[in-house]
Amino acid sequence: MKQLVIQAFGDADQLKLVEVERPVLAPSQVRLKMHYAGVNPIDAKTRAGLGWGAQAIKDKLPWSPGFEVMGTVLELGLEVNRYQLGDRLFGLVAGGGYSEELVVEAEELLLVPEGVSDEMAAGLSLAGATAWQGLTDYGTLQAGERVLISAAAGGVGHLSVQLAKDLDATVVALASPNNHDFLWGLGADEVIDYRDQAALDALAPVDLLFDLVGGTSGEALLSHVKPGGRVVTVPTITAEQVIAAAEARGLKATGMLRRIDNEQLAQLVRMIAQGRLRVTVSRIFPLVDGPAAHRQIESGHTQGKVLLKG
Ligand SMILES: NC(=O)c1ccc[n+]([C@@H]2O[C@H](COP(=O)([O-])OP(=O)(O)OC[C@H]3O[C@@H](n4cnc5c(N)ncnc54)[C@H](OP(=O)(O)O)[C@@H]3O)[C@@H](O)[C@H]2O)c1
Repeated sequence: MKQLVIQAFGDADQLKLVEVERPVLAPSQVRLKMHYAGVNPIDAKTRAGLGWGAQAIKDKLPWSPGFEVMGTVLELGLEVNRYQLGDRLFGLVAGGGYSEELVVEAEELLLVPEGVSDEMAAGLSLAGATAWQGLTDYGTLQAGERVLISAAAGGVGHLSVQLAKDLDATVVALASPNNHDFLWGLGADEVIDYRDQAALDALAPVDLLFDLVGGTSGEALLSHVKPGGRVVTVPTITAEQVIAAAEARGLKATGMLRRIDNEQLAQLVRMIAQGRLRVTVSRIFPLVDGPAAHRQIESGHTQGKVLLKG
C-alpha cells in the first residue's frame, strides 16, 4: 500500500509517497480503506520540525502525518463486533492517516451517520474537537456572551463560529474581506477585516477571545476583551507569550491541547446530520499531491478544510 511519509524534517517536498508493508491487524482493530484524511496545521508544523508534535516523533522517523480520517472497513479484527465490512467510519487517530489503508483500534472510530457526507466527516474530528473544547471546556462560553474569534474562516474557526452561535453567543468573526460573505452565511453577528484598524477600534468589548492565530496577532486582540474577561489561545507554540500578555492586563488566559473525546465527536457529527453544523471543504488533493496540500495549509489562508483523497 502507498503512504505519504517524511524521512527527515523540512519543507513540504519532504513528503514522499512510498510503498510500505500492510500493517498486521490486531484482534481489537479494523483495517480502513482511507477515503479522505484532513490536513491540519499541526501536520505541517510537525513535518517542519516545530513544536510538541515534532518533539514527540523526532526519534521515530519515518513518520506519516494525518490525525483526521474517514474511510470504509476492509477487514475486522477477531474481537471486533461493533462494525461490519463496508461501514463508513471516521475519527481522530494517533497519526498515519495519509495512507491508502490504515489499521486503527475499533473503539477509536465512530460510524458516519446517514446523511453526513464522507468529506464532512473527514474534516470534523480534529478541528471540531478543538473548536468545541476551546469554546466550552476552556472558554466556558455562555449564552448571551460576546466571543471574538480570530481566523474565523479557517478549519477550526468556521466550526467555532457555528458552535458559538448554537450556544446562543454573539459572534464577532475576524477574516479577510474575501471571507466575509462566507462568515455571514455561517451566522456570524459581526464580521471584521483584521487589517482594518478603524473597524477594530470601534469594536464593543467581548467576554471571550478565542485566539486561533497566536503570537503578536493574538496579543493585539487582548485590548478588545472586557476587564476580567477570558482568553483561550489555541496555537501552542506562542501560548506562553499570549497568556503572559493577557495576565498582565488582568485577564484570565489559558492555552489548550485538544483531546480525543468520542462522546463529543458523536454529538458533533449528530449536529451535522441535523443540519445544525456544516464542515466546508475548500480543497481536495490526491494523496500524491501531499506537498501541495501542505503548501496550501501553510499559506495561512485556507477557507474551511483541506483534505487528501485516498
Ligand atoms: N492546541 C490545539 O490543540 C490545536 C488544535 C487545532 C489547531 N491548533 C492551531 O490553531 C490554529 C488554527 O488552526 P486551523 O486549522 O483553523 O488553521 P487554518 O485553517 O490554516 O486557518 C486559516 C485561517 O487563518 C486566517 N488568518 C491568517 N492570519 C490571520 C490573522 N493575522 N488574523 C486573523 N485570521 C488570520 C485566515 O483568514 P483569511 O484567509 O481570511 O486571512 C484563514 O482563514 C493553528 O495555529 C493550529 O496549529 C491548535
